[in-house]
Amino acid sequence: MGHDPHPPAEALTCLGDRLGGPISARLVSDRRGSRAWKVRGPRGAAAVKANAPGGGERDKAAETAQEDRHLRALTAAGAVGAGYRLGGGTWDAGQWLAVEWVEGALLWHALAPAREADGDTPALRALLLTVARTWAAALSGLHEAGWAHADVQPTNTLITGTGTATVIDYALACGPADPLRLPYRGALVHTLAPEVAGRLLATADDHHVQAAPPSDVWGLGASLFWCWTGRRPIRYESDAPFNDKLGRIASGDALDLAAERPWSFPEFEEIITACLTTNPALRPSARALAIG
Ligand SMILES: Nc1ncnc2c1ncn2[C@@H]1O[C@H](COP(=O)(O)OP(=O)(O)O)[C@@H](O)[C@H]1O
Ligand SMILES: [Mg+2]
Repeated sequence: MGHDPHPPAEALTCLGDRLGGPISARLVSDRRGSRAWKVRGPRGAAAVKANAPGGGERDKAAETAQEDRHLRALTAAGAVGAGYRLGGGTWDAGQWLAVEWVEGALLWHALAPAREADGDTPALRALLLTVARTWAAALSGLHEAGWAHADVQPTNTLITGTGTATVIDYALACGPADPLRLPYRGALVHTLAPEVAGRLLATADDHHVQAAPPSDVWGLGASLFWCWTGRRPIRYESDAPFNDKLGRIASGDALDLAAERPWSFPEFEEIITACLTTNPALRPSARALAIG
C-alpha cells in the first residue's frame, strides 16, 4: 500500500483528538475523482472522503463540500445521527469530509450466499427481509425530513452480519432549495428511477432535476433485485449510449423477477416488485416498507 495516496493532513489533525494516536489510514475507495480512507486510532475509526487532486472530474471538490452541507442540514433535521459528521473543510487540492466509520459489508457481498441456488434457509430469508426493512427505515427518516437520498445503490449502504443496513454517501441528496447546490443529473444509472431518467432526457445538462422519495424507493428495489438475482433490473448493453440506457429505464420495463430469482421467496419478491412500480405515485412509501 506504500504508493497509496494519503488523506489530507487537515483531516488527520481534526481526527487526532477523537481517535488518539498513533493513527493509520487505509485507502478503501478511489473512483470517479473521489477517494475514501478508513482512518483508525486507539480510540476508534472514521471514514475520510476527499476529491482526488487534478482529477478529471472538477466538480468532485464541490460535491464533497455539498455533502458536508447536506450532513449539517440532515443532522439539524434529526435525519442523520448527531455524531455521524466528524468534520470537514478545505485542503490544498480541494475539500475533505470526515464521518463515523460504519462497520459492515457492501450489499453485493452481504447477499452473496442468498444468490446461490441453495440459499433458501431461514437465516438468509431473515437477512433479506431485515436488509429491506432497515434500509427502508433509514430512507424514511430522510423522506420525512423533506429529503431524498438520490443515490440509493449497492455501494451506498453497509450491512451488518444480522442484516441491518446503514445508508452512507449523502453527496447528491435532494432537499430544501439550496442556491449553492450542483444540479442533480442522476447517479448510478443501474438503480435510477424511470421518472428521473425521463426528466434527464427531457432537460439540459445544467438543469437541476429534484429527486423525490419515490425515486429512492425504486433505487432500493433495483438494488435488492440486482444483488439477489445477480442481474440489473433493466436490460441494456453495458456499452450502449447513455441516453439509450436512460430511454430503456424511462420505460420502467424491468426484467421478470420470477424468471431471475435464485429461489422462490414471495414475501421478499413482493417488496421488490412493489418498489419497481413504474408509476412513482403507486410505489409504497419507505415507511410502509420499513414496517413490513
Ligand atoms: N462512513 C463509512 N463507513 C464505512 N465505509 C465507508 C464510509 N463512507 C464511505 N465508505 C466506503 O467508501 C466507499 C466510497 O464512499 P462514498 O461515500 O460512497 O463516496 P463516493 O461514492 O462518492 O466515492 C463506500 O462505498 C464505502 O465502501
Ligand atoms: Mg457512493
